[in-house]
Amino acid sequence: MRLSVIILAAGQGTRMRSLLPKVLHRLGGRPLLAHVIDTARELKPDSVHVVYGHGGDQVREALADSPVEWVEQADQLGTGHAVDQVMPRIAGDSVVLVLYGDVPLITAATLAPMIKQAGRGKLSVLTAKLDNPSGYGRIIRSANGKLVDIVEQKDAGTEQLRIREINTGFLAAPAGLLRGWLQKLDNRNAQGEYYLTDIVGMAVDDDVPVESATAADTDEILGVNDRVQLAHLERVYQRRLAEVLMRAGVSLADPARFDQRGELEAGSDSFIDVNVVFEGEVRLGERVRIGPNCVIRNATLGDDVEVFASTVIDDARIGNACRIGPFARIRPETELAERVHVGNFVEVKKSRVAAGSKINHLSYIGDTRMGAGVNIGAGTITCNYDGANKHVTDIGDDVFVGSDTQLVAPVKVGDGATIGAGTTVTRDVPAGQLTLSRCAQKSIEGWSRPVKKKP
Ligand code: UD1
Ligand code: MG
Repeated sequence: MRLSVIILAAGQGTRMRSLLPKVLHRLGGRPLLAHVIDTARELKPDSVHVVYGHGGDQVREALADSPVEWVEQADQLGTGHAVDQVMPRIAGDSVVLVLYGDVPLITAATLAPMIKQAGRGKLSVLTAKLDNPSGYGRIIRSANGKLVDIVEQKDAGTEQLRIREINTGFLAAPAGLLRGWLQKLDNRNAQGEYYLTDIVGMAVDDDVPVESATAADTDEILGVNDRVQLAHLERVYQRRLAEVLMRAGVSLADPARFDQRGELEAGSDSFIDVNVVFEGEVRLGERVRIGPNCVIRNATLGDDVEVFASTVIDDARIGNACRIGPFARIRPETELAERVHVGNFVEVKKSRVAAGSKINHLSYIGDTRMGAGVNIGAGTITCNYDGANKHVTDIGDDVFVGSDTQLVAPVKVGDGATIGAGTTVTRDVPAGQLTLSRCAQKSIEGWSRPVKKKP
């Protein structure tokens, strides 16, 4: 059986009040449409077609890498018209599955049985029972419970408006039959649109069985029309991701205050405190502890790493048993070997730090190669930028750098060197010696403080 998926995404989304096309608004850091395309691909279809209209160029550009076919619907004349735009590209012996670019949480598990039904020559419609069915098309069943029609809210009578079973919009049909039905659609209805839903009545007339399917969870069928609904679905989505993590052996202080915007892999017995944001691709080892209010982006953290509150780690590799933060910033292209300590108000950029080195307080380390067992005193700064170019600071093993030292790059510090506090290092520092640049301390005997003059 061949499968073609059609994703409708031509609507304008006026209620978002946004210049951005609706399907490009983000859920879990990715466009709504990207989620739907992913779900479509899970079903291993022969083709995926996206019907676009409003903001089309922007949508195509944002998802240029997606393996989909783009079909333009210049005027939005209705859902039936939208699907019909794709039919010339679909083989008659396929099954067609219709998805929506603004209904991002639908799962492959819900859709698979519908595809099976359509594969057996039936029309399959995904329905749901809602406490508040307002706005949706209503499912009309015959006395013996058969699905016989769908009536849009705006075309429904008072009795029909009381029906709580609604049309989610998702359907699957044999392509040959669907093509014939779409050709017969008209727009004589309250909205003057070509309704996809009218094919149900046609299937009944043609004695084609109409089956209904249901989603395990009603959140799956919810669409995004405004930012309130988007925020609701974001929480539902985050809750799903949080549950996957927790079931994999990771503890979350509060799954309601967890945000994953990308891929996150985590070893067992790790702990994530509240309000941590993960972005891009993040991998955590085992027994990692992340404190509250951290942002971790495109990073790999080894086993037993501890990240304390309010730390930002961006595009970095952190070795086993490192301790970072609170209030530390690890910037791109940083590699910390095992057991490195980076403390409060320390910024590390594009630097490699070998095992067991400590940069515990108020320092800037940039463009630096640092050996093992180094101790960097509070307030140390690598002066890596001369106003035009960046230069490297090279620090050997077992170096001790006194507090408030400036290392004016390019500069090299030999193994085992000690640098006195307050030193401005402008030339290479020899191994194993004490180096300092400091005026001799003096005291002035008999000196007295100035006294405030009387007015
Ligand atoms: C549609 C269904 C309704 C169902 C509801 C579920 C029809 C006639 N009605 O109504 O039974 O309960 O969805 O949300 O199908 N779109 C296009 N091109 C168009 C028109 C729509 O691409 O010409 C896209 C929109 O971008 C949107 C989707 O199709 O993603 C649904 O369109 P919308 O106008 O919102 O349909 P509803 O009136 O909500
Ligand atoms: Mg709608």
